[in-house]
Amino acid sequence: MNLDFERIMPSIPYILEGIPITLQVVGIAAVIGFVLGILLSLMKISKLKPLNWIADFYTSIFRGTPLVLQLMLIYFGSPQLFGVQIDAFEAAFLSFGLNSAAYISEVIRGGIMAVDKGQMEAAQALGVPYKSSMLNIILPQAFKNILPALMNELITLTKESAVVTIIGLGDIMRRSYIVGGETYKFFEPILIAGLIYYVMVMILTIIGKVIEGRMRRSD
Ligand code: ARG
Repeated sequence: MNLDFERIMPSIPYILEGIPITLQVVGIAAVIGFVLGILLSLMKISKLKPLNWIADFYTSIFRGTPLVLQLMLIYFGSPQLFGVQIDAFEAAFLSFGLNSAAYISEVIRGGIMAVDKGQMEAAQALGVPYKSSMLNIILPQAFKNILPALMNELITLTKESAVVTIIGLGDIMRRSYIVGGETYKFFEPILIAGLIYYVMVMILTIIGKVIEGRMRRSD
């Protein structure tokens, strides 16, 4: 295997500049996905059937079609959807956030259902209102159990963010592809992109382990 990193050496800073772009997209999308995910999960366990239907329909759409398709629909369709052309960055965090919410809502729903029913009954019997029982008793217990699954989602999001290449956002993936086009060497820059993603995922994994350890100790 002959590798020629010398040719692409000068382009490495250019590829590295994609890291903050990727991190921003993932960060904003994760917040959108998490907040909307909690909301959807509560709708799914609600006693009001129409809320169940809306949340289930939402999940079926965003889980039932490819993420790259949703990204394209939101980016290219934004004039028809919102009346303005949004930029690639906005389309990226919006589509990833909306998509992630569908998955996260299922994870959280599973977590809530795994918390013993007696907890809610006891809270209600003590006169704690539903909202505060959910917020202060059920959800904190659910989160401890679903932390590994949420970490999975964050890792998926980080790697899936590479598809923004398709709408021209200058993330890690796109930049390494551009360097490939300019130097006629694709293997080396893509390899570097791979290394960057791998390191990012390893860091996330470590952070996840640390949080998990802390939560277990607090038991
Ligand atoms: N490639 C899959 C798709 O296109 C990934 C979806 C994102 N997955 C996730 N857990 N957020 O549908």
